[in-house]
Amino acid sequence: MTTALPVDLSRRSVLPLLAAAGLALTSAAMAQQPPGDEVYRPLVGQEGKDVIWVPTPDVVVMRMLQMAEVKPDDLVVDLGSGDGKIAIAAARSFGATARGLEYNPDLVSLSQRIARQAGVADKVSFEHADIFVTDFSKATVVTMYLLPQLNLKLRPQLFALAPGTRVVSHSFSMGEWLPDEKARLNNADVFLWRVPANASGSWQLVAGAVNGRLNLTQKFQVLSGEALFGDLRTSVVQPVLSGAGLNFQLREPGGQLARYEGRVTGNRIVGLVHRAGQAPLPFEAVRDVDPVPLLLQQHDDTAAAAPQRVAHAQRHIERRRAGAMSPR
Ligand SMILES: C[S@@+](CC[C@H](N)C(=O)[O-])C[C@H]1O[C@@H](n2cnc3c(N)ncnc32)[C@H](O)[C@@H]1O
Repeated sequence: MTTALPVDLSRRSVLPLLAAAGLALTSAAMAQQPPGDEVYRPLVGQEGKDVIWVPTPDVVVMRMLQMAEVKPDDLVVDLGSGDGKIAIAAARSFGATARGLEYNPDLVSLSQRIARQAGVADKVSFEHADIFVTDFSKATVVTMYLLPQLNLKLRPQLFALAPGTRVVSHSFSMGEWLPDEKARLNNADVFLWRVPANASGSWQLVAGAVNGRLNLTQKFQVLSGEALFGDLRTSVVQPVLSGAGLNFQLREPGGQLARYEGRVTGNRIVGLVHRAGQAPLPFEAVRDVDPVPLLLQQHDDTAAAAPQRVAHAQRHIERRRAGAMSPR
């Protein structure tokens, strides 16, 4: 629902009322207000260090945070936080701790003021920072609205995050790293990825009386591979890697298809194997040699991404800019 506000009300008088009225009204109402406050009013489309400032629409912010399944124990980091709306919504609507990294110091100060007015200054912090040289390794959720080439440039930092960290991007994808979930609303795409554990390499598998070797190949979160049981070589069936969670099936030497559910922690996978007619049994797999880092295993698609994605990004930003300037 969109709630129109009288245009002659100053932002100073409106914000405390909105804060008291709750987030649904706040976010809908904010969409009707010119951005900024009495101290600083940024212009939609103004230059930023690597990308201009365009705020994510409120409905898209909510969808991003819902797709990331943000919870109170999360640390949400918005890369290029603009006026702070994503970080503030993460704290207000989902109870998370949030951090915004923004290169423009005026936007940093503005977002700090808005966070104070929204009553979440104890849960949200904003820093004057360049996202490419700032440590955000403690994030459990990363949000961004940047550009395709910037997403690609960020991939090494994102792949260094703990397995299972959720990454959500407004509008722009991540090259060959395909999303785990995608949505389209309000003329915008939203992409979600879960940072995968590194499950590639050769593993010694022990699952009750069954002993074998698992050889796994990984491209981003997509796995394939085979298992060796003596002279029997059989494919790993439907492997699914989600963060550190790893599920797959194996047709074992006895001929039955067993279902494995495990978690990758460093060079160990532990979990349960489910065999028809039997209670689940613990299994373990151990990798004897450290794996090649995932990013070194990927085809570098940075250059290939450039022309088409940049053109798409420019069209998108022009539409957003035009939308922000047209009368509502
Ligand atoms: C498209 S806006 C998105 C703002 C906010 N995340 C949102 O979705 O509403 C991108 C923001 O990134 C900031 N920015 C650009 N390059 C940056 C950099 N290298 N480090 C930090 N912030 C940057 C810009 O100033 C701008 O505020």
